[in-house]
Amino acid sequence: MDNNLYADHMASLCRRYDDILEQSGFETLNVFSGAPRMQFLDDNPYPFKVNPQFKALVPITDNPNSWVIYKRGQKPKLLFYRPVDFWHYVPPAPQTFWSAFYDIELLSKPADAREFLSADRAAFIGETERLQDWPLGTINPEPLINRLHWARAYKTPYEVACLREANRIAMAGHRAAEQAFRSGASEFEINQAYLSATGQGENTMPYGNIVALNEHAAILHYTHLSTQRLPGTELKTFLIDAGANCNGYCADITRTYTYADSEFSQLIAAMDEKQLQLVDGLKPGQPYPDLHRQCHLKVGELLAQFGIVKSSAESAVESGLTRPFMPHGLGHFLGLQVHDVGGHQSSPDGGATPPPEEYPFLRTSRTIEESQVFTIEPGLYFIDSLLAELKASDLASEVNWDKVEEFRPYGGVRIEDNIVVGADTNMNLTRNWEAQS
Ligand code: GLY
Ligand code: MN
Ligand code: MN
Repeated sequence: MDNNLYADHMASLCRRYDDILEQSGFETLNVFSGAPRMQFLDDNPYPFKVNPQFKALVPITDNPNSWVIYKRGQKPKLLFYRPVDFWHYVPPAPQTFWSAFYDIELLSKPADAREFLSADRAAFIGETERLQDWPLGTINPEPLINRLHWARAYKTPYEVACLREANRIAMAGHRAAEQAFRSGASEFEINQAYLSATGQGENTMPYGNIVALNEHAAILHYTHLSTQRLPGTELKTFLIDAGANCNGYCADITRTYTYADSEFSQLIAAMDEKQLQLVDGLKPGQPYPDLHRQCHLKVGELLAQFGIVKSSAESAVESGLTRPFMPHGLGHFLGLQVHDVGGHQSSPDGGATPPPEEYPFLRTSRTIEESQVFTIEPGLYFIDSLLAELKASDLASEVNWDKVEEFRPYGGVRIEDNIVVGADTNMNLTRNWEAQS
């Protein structure tokens, strides 16, 4: 990663933290990475997941018991945990593109952090288990966290570079996964091919990979990974929603394929066109829910075009007929967390704008602005439970159920890209890696 890019990033970040600390009435921010958590009645920890507010300040995702102490106007201090430990891997003291931007202290015991902390006009962000009686300051103050969450929606060029690299890595995985699918691999084997091509393990993935064959594509968060191989005669659809990680930043990408040409292949191609139109619809000044409504109109167009419903696109949206076919939101903020924070926030200070009543699962109600990063992920599914409800409703007569039965074994289609909003043109971080190895 480019050193100057990080220098500029840190300069912006320090300005941001200085302002927010002042507005919130604090001088110091103590941020804890988190500690390993033991499984119940066991001596093995759960996989470590870092405090996102820690990795927002330093690109470390895998070193528990570390701290960033940020004092207004000063170089941040990093307390980096380096125990003497013959059981576990101990990382070297940081010497990389970012290390010069911190005063680094090495900790040989978790409790050694205590002497560096002060509660004086300080705030603390993190989990407090095992930190009882420590001088932390005000614990997780909401007004401060709200301001930090709000600000995280605007990405610096360094953050965009990380998101772009995460996309490059993920797309190598997506290519390998498609090949594995075409060679008849099971979901489990496809996932192994994906991980291998990304060079990242499952605990590094930003979320559980969704690797779904046939009707499993209709299960929105399907992470089961069946070991069963299907013969070519039974293989229909492959939906994969899988990302990658770069310096703590996430990719979140979905592709859908058919094994053999069919009408469902045409539906995927038509969805791809609509998805790109929606990407172009990401424009500063527009409320994101408006784009979500446009997405429903496009889903309505597909439902009408492929003879799945008898209504026009407009009346399908109006009556709510599109909803069982696309029950999730068009997309969400993306960054240090796959569903990045602040999507429903109504101002830097807090407050929430809920999503429209008819679309409760939409993760952002904010107005689109330059330098924000979103996913755009329209889908169209044949979900048994939602179809059963639809069949029992007044809208049942608007559906061509024979067509639904034809498509049901294919599960569904989703196409998801990661987009940086620009003043005039957007940057699609996901496309155009296809040809590269
Ligand atoms: N991978 C989860 C999502 O697309 O939001
Ligand atoms: Mn996804
Ligand atoms: Mn997503």
